[in-house]
Amino acid sequence: MGYSSEVYELARREMENRRLYAEQELGKRRDKLYAICPRAREIERELVKISVSAGKRVIMGADVRKELENLKNNSLALQKELDELLVSHNLPGNYLDEWYVCDKCNDTGNIDGRMCTCMKSLLKKTAYEELNKISPLSLCSFESFSLEYYSKIKDEKSGKIPYNYMQSVLRFCKKYASEFSPDSRSLIFQGGSGLGKTHLSLSIAQEVINKGYGVIYVSAPNIVSRLENEHFSSYSERKGETERLINECDLLILDDMGTEYQSKFGLSVIYNTLNTRLMTNHPTIISTNLSGKEIQEMYGTRMMSRIIGMLDRIEFTGNDIRQIKRRERKK
Ligand SMILES: Nc1ncnc2c1ncn2[C@@H]1O[C@H](COP(=O)(O)OP(=O)(O)OP(=O)(O)O)[C@@H](O)[C@H]1O
Ligand SMILES: [Mg+2]
Ligand SMILES: [Zn+2]
Repeated sequence: MGYSSEVYELARREMENRRLYAEQELGKRRDKLYAICPRAREIERELVKISVSAGKRVIMGADVRKELENLKNNSLALQKELDELLVSHNLPGNYLDEWYVCDKCNDTGNIDGRMCTCMKSLLKKTAYEELNKISPLSLCSFESFSLEYYSKIKDEKSGKIPYNYMQSVLRFCKKYASEFSPDSRSLIFQGGSGLGKTHLSLSIAQEVINKGYGVIYVSAPNIVSRLENEHFSSYSERKGETERLINECDLLILDDMGTEYQSKFGLSVIYNTLNTRLMTNHPTIISTNLSGKEIQEMYGTRMMSRIIGMLDRIEFTGNDIRQIKRRERKK
Protein backbone atom coordinates (compact mmCIF):
# COMPACT_ATOMS: atom_id res chain seq x y z
CA MET A 1 0.00 0.00 0.00
CA GLY A 2 1.11 3.53 -0.56
CA TYR A 3 1.74 3.47 -4.31
CA SER A 4 -0.24 5.66 -6.62
CA SER A 5 -2.39 4.18 -9.37
CA GLU A 6 0.10 5.49 -11.95
CA VAL A 7 2.79 3.38 -10.32
CA TYR A 8 0.57 0.28 -10.46
CA GLU A 9 -0.30 0.99 -14.09
CA LEU A 10 3.35 1.49 -15.08
CA ALA A 11 4.39 -1.70 -13.30
CA ARG A 12 1.57 -3.64 -14.96
CA ARG A 13 2.71 -2.37 -18.35
CA GLU A 14 6.30 -3.33 -17.63
CA MET A 15 5.15 -6.88 -16.76
CA GLU A 16 3.27 -7.03 -20.05
CA ASN A 17 6.41 -5.89 -21.90
CA ARG A 18 8.45 -8.58 -20.19
CA ARG A 19 6.03 -11.26 -21.37
CA LEU A 20 5.98 -9.79 -24.86
CA TYR A 21 9.76 -9.68 -24.94
CA ALA A 22 9.98 -13.32 -23.84
CA GLU A 23 7.62 -14.27 -26.68
CA GLN A 24 9.49 -12.25 -29.29
CA GLU A 25 12.83 -13.68 -28.23
CA LEU A 26 11.43 -17.18 -28.42
CA GLY A 27 10.22 -16.40 -31.97
CA LYS A 28 13.71 -15.30 -32.93
CA ARG A 29 15.33 -18.39 -31.44
CA ARG A 30 12.84 -20.59 -33.28
CA ASP A 31 13.60 -18.94 -36.62
CA LYS A 32 17.30 -19.40 -36.03
CA LEU A 33 16.83 -23.08 -35.24
CA TYR A 34 14.57 -23.70 -38.25
CA ALA A 35 17.19 -22.13 -40.51
CA ILE A 36 19.85 -24.59 -39.45
CA CYS A 37 17.54 -27.52 -38.77
CA PRO A 38 14.33 -27.70 -40.85
CA ARG A 39 13.38 -30.97 -39.15
CA ALA A 40 12.70 -29.01 -35.94
CA ARG A 41 9.96 -27.05 -37.67
CA GLU A 42 8.41 -30.24 -38.99
CA ILE A 43 8.37 -31.74 -35.50
CA GLU A 44 6.75 -28.65 -34.00
CA ARG A 45 4.11 -28.66 -36.74
CA GLU A 46 3.58 -32.38 -36.25
CA LEU A 47 3.08 -31.85 -32.50
CA VAL A 48 0.35 -29.30 -33.16
CA LYS A 49 -1.24 -31.45 -35.83
CA ILE A 50 -1.54 -34.62 -33.75
CA SER A 51 -3.15 -32.81 -30.84
CA VAL A 52 -5.65 -31.03 -33.12
CA SER A 53 -6.62 -34.27 -34.84
CA ALA A 54 -6.91 -36.12 -31.54
CA GLY A 55 -9.27 -33.37 -30.40
CA LYS A 56 -11.32 -33.74 -33.56
CA ARG A 57 -11.61 -37.49 -33.12
CA VAL A 58 -12.78 -37.06 -29.55
CA ILE A 59 -15.49 -34.67 -30.72
CA MET A 60 -16.55 -37.28 -33.31
CA GLY A 61 -17.04 -39.76 -30.49
CA ALA A 62 -13.72 -41.58 -30.20
CA ASP A 63 -12.62 -43.05 -26.85
CA VAL A 64 -11.15 -40.15 -24.90
CA ARG A 65 -8.77 -42.24 -22.80
CA LYS A 66 -7.38 -44.11 -25.78
CA GLU A 67 -6.90 -40.91 -27.75
CA LEU A 68 -5.10 -39.25 -24.85
CA GLU A 69 -2.85 -42.25 -24.40
CA ASN A 70 -1.96 -42.27 -28.11
CA LEU A 71 -1.39 -38.54 -28.11
CA LYS A 72 0.88 -38.80 -25.13
CA ASN A 73 2.97 -41.55 -26.68
CA ASN A 74 3.23 -39.88 -30.06
CA SER A 75 4.12 -36.50 -28.67
CA LEU A 76 6.63 -37.97 -26.24
CA ALA A 77 8.44 -39.56 -29.16
CA LEU A 78 8.43 -36.32 -31.13
CA GLN A 79 9.51 -34.32 -28.10
CA LYS A 80 12.37 -36.72 -27.55
CA GLU A 81 13.50 -36.29 -31.12
CA LEU A 82 13.31 -32.52 -30.73
CA ASP A 83 15.35 -32.63 -27.52
CA GLU A 84 17.99 -34.70 -29.26
CA LEU A 85 18.13 -32.23 -32.12
CA LEU A 86 18.76 -29.42 -29.61
CA VAL A 87 21.55 -31.39 -28.00
CA SER A 88 23.12 -32.15 -31.36
CA HIS A 89 23.14 -28.42 -32.15
CA ASN A 90 24.63 -27.60 -28.75
CA LEU A 91 21.51 -25.76 -27.62
CA PRO A 92 20.11 -25.75 -24.06
CA GLY A 93 17.13 -27.93 -23.20
CA ASN A 94 14.90 -24.90 -22.58
CA TYR A 95 15.78 -23.33 -25.93
CA LEU A 96 12.18 -23.59 -27.12
CA ASP A 97 10.58 -22.32 -23.90
CA GLU A 98 9.82 -18.70 -23.06
CA TRP A 99 12.67 -17.22 -21.05
CA TYR A 100 10.93 -15.16 -18.40
CA VAL A 101 12.57 -12.66 -16.08
CA CYS A 102 10.81 -14.37 -13.18
CA ASP A 103 10.42 -18.15 -13.28
CA LYS A 104 8.18 -18.12 -10.25
CA CYS A 105 5.27 -16.28 -11.89
CA ASN A 106 6.25 -16.36 -15.60
CA ASP A 107 6.16 -12.57 -15.56
CA THR A 108 2.49 -12.39 -14.68
CA GLY A 109 3.27 -10.78 -11.31
CA ASN A 110 0.94 -13.20 -9.53
CA ILE A 111 1.16 -16.64 -8.02
CA ASP A 112 -2.22 -18.15 -7.11
CA GLY A 113 -3.79 -14.74 -6.76
CA ARG A 114 -0.98 -13.41 -4.56
CA MET A 115 1.48 -10.78 -5.62
CA CYS A 116 4.85 -12.22 -6.62
CA THR A 117 8.01 -10.77 -5.08
CA CYS A 118 9.13 -9.63 -8.55
CA MET A 119 6.01 -7.44 -8.80
CA LYS A 120 6.72 -6.02 -5.35
CA SER A 121 10.23 -5.01 -6.32
CA LEU A 122 9.03 -3.67 -9.65
CA LEU A 123 6.47 -1.48 -7.86
CA LYS A 124 9.20 -0.22 -5.58
CA LYS A 125 11.50 0.55 -8.49
CA THR A 126 8.70 2.25 -10.42
CA ALA A 127 7.69 4.35 -7.42
CA TYR A 128 11.25 5.51 -7.03
CA GLU A 129 11.52 6.39 -10.71
CA GLU A 130 8.28 8.31 -10.50
CA LEU A 131 9.52 10.09 -7.43
CA ASN A 132 12.66 11.12 -9.24
CA LYS A 133 10.64 12.27 -12.20
CA ILE A 134 8.61 14.78 -10.23
CA SER A 135 11.42 15.87 -7.95
CA PRO A 136 13.81 18.55 -9.14
CA LEU A 137 16.78 16.36 -8.23
CA SER A 138 17.53 13.11 -9.92
CA LEU A 139 20.74 12.10 -8.20
CA CYS A 140 20.02 12.53 -4.53
CA SER A 141 21.47 9.98 -2.22
CA PHE A 142 23.46 9.97 0.98
CA GLU A 143 26.49 9.06 -1.14
CA SER A 144 26.21 12.21 -3.24
CA PHE A 145 25.75 14.39 -0.15
CA SER A 146 29.11 15.98 0.56
CA LEU A 147 30.09 17.78 3.74
CA GLU A 148 32.76 19.73 1.86
CA TYR A 149 30.23 22.42 1.02
CA TYR A 150 29.85 23.39 4.67
CA SER A 151 32.30 25.80 6.27
CA LYS A 152 34.58 24.72 9.09
CA ILE A 153 34.58 28.24 10.46
CA LYS A 154 32.28 29.01 13.35
CA ASP A 155 29.19 30.97 12.42
CA GLU A 156 28.92 33.81 14.97
CA LYS A 157 25.14 34.13 14.75
CA SER A 158 24.30 30.51 15.49
CA GLY A 159 27.51 29.67 17.31
CA LYS A 160 27.78 26.49 15.20
CA ILE A 161 30.51 25.17 12.97
CA PRO A 162 28.44 24.35 9.87
CA TYR A 163 30.66 21.40 8.84
CA ASN A 164 30.45 19.68 12.23
CA TYR A 165 26.83 20.49 12.70
CA MET A 166 25.77 19.23 9.25
CA GLN A 167 27.82 16.11 9.86
CA SER A 168 25.57 15.35 12.79
CA VAL A 169 22.49 16.17 10.70
CA LEU A 170 23.68 13.75 8.02
CA ARG A 171 24.32 11.09 10.65
CA PHE A 172 20.86 11.62 12.09
CA CYS A 173 19.20 11.35 8.67
CA LYS A 174 21.08 8.16 7.81
CA LYS A 175 20.03 6.63 11.11
CA TYR A 176 16.44 7.77 10.60
CA ALA A 177 16.37 6.13 7.17
CA SER A 178 18.03 2.88 8.20
CA GLU A 179 15.83 2.51 11.29
CA PHE A 180 12.66 3.74 9.60
CA SER A 181 9.41 2.11 10.67
CA PRO A 182 5.80 3.25 10.49
CA ASP A 183 6.26 4.40 14.10
CA SER A 184 9.14 6.73 13.24
CA ARG A 185 8.82 10.32 14.33
CA SER A 186 7.94 13.17 12.01
CA LEU A 187 10.55 15.77 11.16
CA ILE A 188 10.70 19.34 10.00
CA PHE A 189 13.76 20.55 8.07
CA GLN A 190 14.12 24.30 8.40
CA GLY A 191 16.61 26.66 6.83
CA GLY A 192 17.53 28.87 3.93
CA SER A 193 17.66 28.04 0.27
CA GLY A 194 20.14 25.53 -1.14
CA LEU A 195 21.29 24.01 2.14
CA GLY A 196 20.42 20.42 1.27
CA LYS A 197 16.95 19.97 2.78
CA THR A 198 15.45 18.48 -0.36
CA HIS A 199 18.61 16.51 -1.02
CA LEU A 200 18.54 14.82 2.37
CA SER A 201 14.79 14.23 2.41
CA LEU A 202 15.03 12.52 -0.99
CA SER A 203 17.98 10.46 0.25
CA ILE A 204 15.83 9.26 3.13
CA ALA A 205 12.97 8.59 0.71
CA GLN A 206 15.19 6.47 -1.50
CA GLU A 207 16.39 4.29 1.35
CA VAL A 208 12.92 3.90 2.85
CA ILE A 209 11.52 2.88 -0.54
CA ASN A 210 14.29 0.30 -0.81
CA LYS A 211 13.15 -1.12 2.48
CA GLY A 212 9.79 -1.78 0.84
CA TYR A 213 7.74 1.08 2.25
CA GLY A 214 5.33 3.26 0.30
CA VAL A 215 6.78 6.73 0.13
CA ILE A 216 5.29 9.79 -1.51
CA TYR A 217 7.27 12.91 -2.28
CA VAL A 218 5.32 16.06 -3.04
CA SER A 219 6.06 19.74 -3.03
CA ALA A 220 3.46 21.88 -1.29
CA PRO A 221 2.51 23.86 -4.44
CA ASN A 222 2.18 20.63 -6.38
CA ILE A 223 -0.06 18.89 -3.87
CA VAL A 224 -2.28 21.91 -3.40
CA SER A 225 -2.89 22.34 -7.12
CA ARG A 226 -3.38 18.63 -7.61
CA LEU A 227 -5.95 18.35 -4.85
CA GLU A 228 -7.59 21.55 -6.04
CA ASN A 229 -7.99 20.10 -9.54
CA GLU A 230 -9.38 16.86 -8.21
CA HIS A 231 -11.65 18.63 -5.76
CA PHE A 232 -13.19 21.07 -8.19
CA SER A 233 -13.28 19.03 -11.37
CA SER A 234 -16.62 17.56 -12.32
CA TYR A 235 -14.83 14.72 -14.06
CA SER A 236 -13.86 13.02 -10.85
CA GLU A 237 -12.56 9.56 -11.69
CA ARG A 238 -9.73 10.05 -9.22
CA LYS A 239 -11.63 12.08 -6.65
CA GLY A 240 -10.24 11.37 -3.23
CA GLU A 241 -7.48 9.05 -4.43
CA THR A 242 -4.56 11.44 -4.09
CA GLU A 243 -5.86 12.59 -0.74
CA ARG A 244 -6.14 9.02 0.49
CA LEU A 245 -2.62 8.15 -0.66
CA ILE A 246 -1.19 11.28 0.88
CA ASN A 247 -2.90 10.49 4.15
CA GLU A 248 -2.06 6.80 4.22
CA CYS A 249 1.42 6.34 2.71
CA ASP A 250 4.11 5.06 5.09
CA LEU A 251 6.22 8.18 4.69
CA LEU A 252 5.19 11.52 3.24
CA ILE A 253 7.83 14.01 2.20
CA LEU A 254 6.21 17.43 2.02
CA ASP A 255 8.74 19.70 0.39
CA ASP A 256 8.78 23.51 0.14
CA MET A 257 6.03 24.12 2.66
CA GLY A 258 5.11 27.80 2.51
CA THR A 259 5.72 28.25 -1.21
CA GLU A 260 2.23 27.12 -2.17
CA TYR A 261 -0.27 29.65 -3.45
CA GLN A 262 -1.73 31.37 -0.43
CA SER A 263 -5.43 30.65 -0.48
CA LYS A 264 -7.92 29.32 2.01
CA PHE A 265 -7.93 26.05 0.10
CA GLY A 266 -4.13 25.82 0.10
CA LEU A 267 -3.82 26.49 3.80
CA SER A 268 -6.47 23.93 4.63
CA VAL A 269 -4.80 21.28 2.44
CA ILE A 270 -1.52 21.69 4.29
CA TYR A 271 -3.14 21.89 7.69
CA ASN A 272 -5.48 18.92 7.15
CA THR A 273 -2.78 16.75 5.64
CA LEU A 274 -0.41 17.29 8.54
CA ASN A 275 -3.15 17.08 11.13
CA THR A 276 -4.52 13.81 9.73
CA ARG A 277 -1.09 12.22 9.51
CA LEU A 278 -0.08 13.25 12.99
CA MET A 279 -3.35 12.12 14.53
CA THR A 280 -3.01 8.72 12.86
CA ASN A 281 0.71 8.46 13.68
CA HIS A 282 2.00 8.46 10.12
CA PRO A 283 5.52 9.87 9.76
CA THR A 284 6.02 12.97 7.65
CA ILE A 285 9.09 15.00 6.74
CA ILE A 286 8.46 18.67 6.02
CA SER A 287 10.99 21.00 4.40
CA THR A 288 10.56 24.73 4.60
CA ASN A 289 12.36 28.06 4.33
CA LEU A 290 10.00 29.48 6.93
CA SER A 291 11.02 30.15 10.51
CA GLY A 292 8.72 29.18 13.36
CA LYS A 293 7.43 32.73 13.55
CA GLU A 294 6.70 32.82 9.83
CA ILE A 295 4.86 29.49 9.99
CA GLN A 296 2.68 30.90 12.73
CA GLU A 297 1.98 34.05 10.72
CA MET A 298 1.11 32.07 7.64
CA TYR A 299 -0.87 29.16 9.05
CA GLY A 300 -1.95 30.42 12.45
CA THR A 301 -1.24 29.54 16.05
CA ARG A 302 -3.24 26.31 15.93
CA MET A 303 -0.93 24.91 13.25
CA MET A 304 2.13 26.05 15.14
CA SER A 305 1.22 24.68 18.53
CA ARG A 306 -0.63 21.51 17.55
CA ILE A 307 1.39 20.39 14.59
CA ILE A 308 4.81 21.89 14.31
CA GLY A 309 5.28 21.44 18.06
CA MET A 310 4.95 17.69 17.63
CA LEU A 311 7.71 17.39 15.02
CA ASP A 312 11.43 16.96 15.59
CA ARG A 313 13.01 20.15 14.31
CA ILE A 314 16.21 20.06 12.30
CA GLU A 315 17.84 23.33 11.47
CA PHE A 316 19.96 23.47 8.28
CA THR A 317 22.89 25.81 8.14
CA GLY A 318 25.63 26.90 5.73
CA ASN A 319 25.87 28.69 2.41
CA ASP A 320 23.63 28.22 -0.61
CA ILE A 321 25.06 25.08 -2.27
CA ARG A 322 23.02 25.68 -5.41
CA GLN A 323 25.00 28.89 -5.93
CA ILE A 324 28.33 27.31 -4.99
CA LYS A 325 27.76 24.60 -7.60
CA ARG A 326 26.72 27.14 -10.22
CA ARG A 327 29.91 29.07 -9.61
CA GLU A 328 31.99 25.88 -9.80
CA ARG A 329 30.43 25.00 -13.15
CA LYS A 330 31.29 28.43 -14.57
CA LYS A 331 34.95 28.08 -13.66
N1 LIG B 1 25.76 18.51 0.97
C1 LIG B 1 25.54 18.48 -0.34
N2 LIG B 1 26.36 17.78 -1.15
C2 LIG B 1 26.16 17.79 -2.47
N3 LIG B 1 25.15 18.44 -3.08
C3 LIG B 1 24.31 19.14 -2.32
C4 LIG B 1 24.43 19.18 -0.92
N4 LIG B 1 23.42 19.93 -0.41
C5 LIG B 1 22.73 20.35 -1.45
N5 LIG B 1 23.24 19.88 -2.61
C6 LIG B 1 22.78 20.16 -3.96
O1 LIG B 1 22.54 21.56 -4.03
C7 LIG B 1 21.29 21.83 -4.66
C8 LIG B 1 20.35 22.51 -3.67
O2 LIG B 1 20.08 21.64 -2.58
P1 LIG B 1 18.60 21.36 -2.05
O3 LIG B 1 17.65 21.43 -3.17
O4 LIG B 1 18.62 20.14 -1.24
O5 LIG B 1 18.41 22.63 -1.13
P2 LIG B 1 17.15 23.02 -0.24
O6 LIG B 1 17.66 23.22 1.13
O7 LIG B 1 16.07 22.07 -0.45
O8 LIG B 1 16.78 24.45 -0.87
P3 LIG B 1 15.33 25.15 -1.04
O9 LIG B 1 15.00 25.69 0.30
O10 LIG B 1 15.59 26.24 -2.02
O11 LIG B 1 14.40 24.14 -1.52
C9 LIG B 1 20.81 20.50 -5.16
O12 LIG B 1 21.29 20.33 -6.47
C10 LIG B 1 21.47 19.50 -4.24
O13 LIG B 1 21.65 18.24 -4.85
MG1 LIG C 1 14.26 22.19 -1.44
ZN1 LIG D 1 7.46 -13.10 -10.30
